[in-house]
Amino acid sequence: MTTEWTAEELRATGYRAVDLVVEHLTRLPGGPVFQPVPPGVVQTFEAEGVPRAGAPVAAVLEEFATRVEPWPFGNGHPRFFGWVNPPPHPLGVFAELLAAAMNPSVAGGNHAAVHVERQVVRWFAELAGFPPDATGLLVSGGSAATLTALAVARHRATPAPAPAPDSVSAPVRPTTATRAGAVGGDHAGAGAGSGGTLYVGVEGHVSIRKAARLLGIGDANVRVVASDGADRMSARALRAAIREDLRAGRAPLAVVATAGTVNTGAVDDIDAIAGVCAEFGVWLHVDAAYGGPAVLLLDGHGEARAGIARADSVGLDPHKWLYAPVGAGLVLLRDPAAARAAFSLVPDYLRTDGDVDGVGGPVWFSEIGFDQTRPFRALKVWMLLKHLGLDGYRARIEHDLAVAARIAERVAAAPELELLAHGLSVVCFRVRADDDTNRRVLRAVQLGGTAFLSGTTVGAAFALRACVVNPRSSPADADTLVAAVRHAWREQTAA
Ligand SMILES: Cc1ncc(COP(=O)(O)O)c(C=O)c1O
Repeated sequence: MTTEWTAEELRATGYRAVDLVVEHLTRLPGGPVFQPVPPGVVQTFEAEGVPRAGAPVAAVLEEFATRVEPWPFGNGHPRFFGWVNPPPHPLGVFAELLAAAMNPSVAGGNHAAVHVERQVVRWFAELAGFPPDATGLLVSGGSAATLTALAVARHRATPAPAPAPDSVSAPVRPTTATRAGAVGGDHAGAGAGSGGTLYVGVEGHVSIRKAARLLGIGDANVRVVASDGADRMSARALRAAIREDLRAGRAPLAVVATAGTVNTGAVDDIDAIAGVCAEFGVWLHVDAAYGGPAVLLLDGHGEARAGIARADSVGLDPHKWLYAPVGAGLVLLRDPAAARAAFSLVPDYLRTDGDVDGVGGPVWFSEIGFDQTRPFRALKVWMLLKHLGLDGYRARIEHDLAVAARIAERVAAAPELELLAHGLSVVCFRVRADDDTNRRVLRAVQLGGTAFLSGTTVGAAFALRACVVNPRSSPADADTLVAAVRHAWREQTAA
């Protein structure tokens, strides 16, 4: 059994892997945007048992080259306009390699990865207009950011029991839910729940509801606030909903506003919503997972920026519009003490404060978030920010917005198409036909390999949805997408 790799072995494997990366990234634009994995290939994955004897490294890499690499998700392609999945910036790809080579656990401690992550959090806190002592951490994505933020909101709303005088173990706070006996069983998360009402917009991301279930808030305590007619949460409707709940004896827990809804790219009136939250002392979380970079970096979003600066927590995904490889989400938390109270189960006498220049380092990330062993997610974000700078990001995001505007223009100019919504870099439209026809058109485009977009619902109508988060997408690619939809529609009507 060989356990040590020589420098030559490391280099040979690294060079082959880099060749594979280069082949993948350079070949992508010339191939189909998407093609399903052929059934025969799927079968090989399903039939193969656990390897008993190992294979040489070169053989494993070749298997990757023949069985995995040829069937990607599609999001590296310039004509992939589905969901919110950009291609990775190449530097991000190599940052992943370097992070894996160091392979620290970024739970905490006084090692470089901790300080890189703290710097990244500080940079984003500054961009968001948060105070210098705000905290935060990188998480797997926007869903985890919302879950983390709402866990802190929920904990803050839960009064702590008085500790037993001679207790030496970490106090475990009962949640409002367990004390009230309303949740805790198998079905608790999805059911009644308790512990305050969560307010979400009609266009709020589904991950907010998932978080409500996981936290035991429960579906019944999620209140959907009406839109203002432009797919944005209405601050007036929010105020009315909170007032009504208070009159009925229901405690408001938190409001989740959105900066860039996934469906239509709408940006809520966040400053007005922050005003309502301040009026009633309710926690405001802003889900800026998708739109955060545009709102924070570009002109024209002063109102939303002002609201973000007043929020208690913000989620923003570097793996979306900052082109970092998956998974890189970020959550900012205004009140470091509240964050720590929610997640730190370390008794006070074991905390490592004051060991800033020793082994312990600053407050551990594992004390302000769920994970204990944590990957070095921050390196790719740090490297990309250093390489592109805010100016580089601004230019790329503006490019994406221009390509989206081009799609909208082309759609508006096509008599058989109807533009349904256009916000940030999202364009929703449909062919002037029933929902089933639109679904068939979508499938034909997706399987056709020329361009890729996803589907959604706008109002009551099924819609085709294009989202541009790829600086390699050109205006010509936008034209090709719209031409592919029109072609698929003609084929459908001819069939
Ligand atoms: C507005 C918004 N919030 C949250 C999410 C969930 O983020 P993730 O998929 O990274 O968990 C998404 C994903 O597209 C999103 O667009």
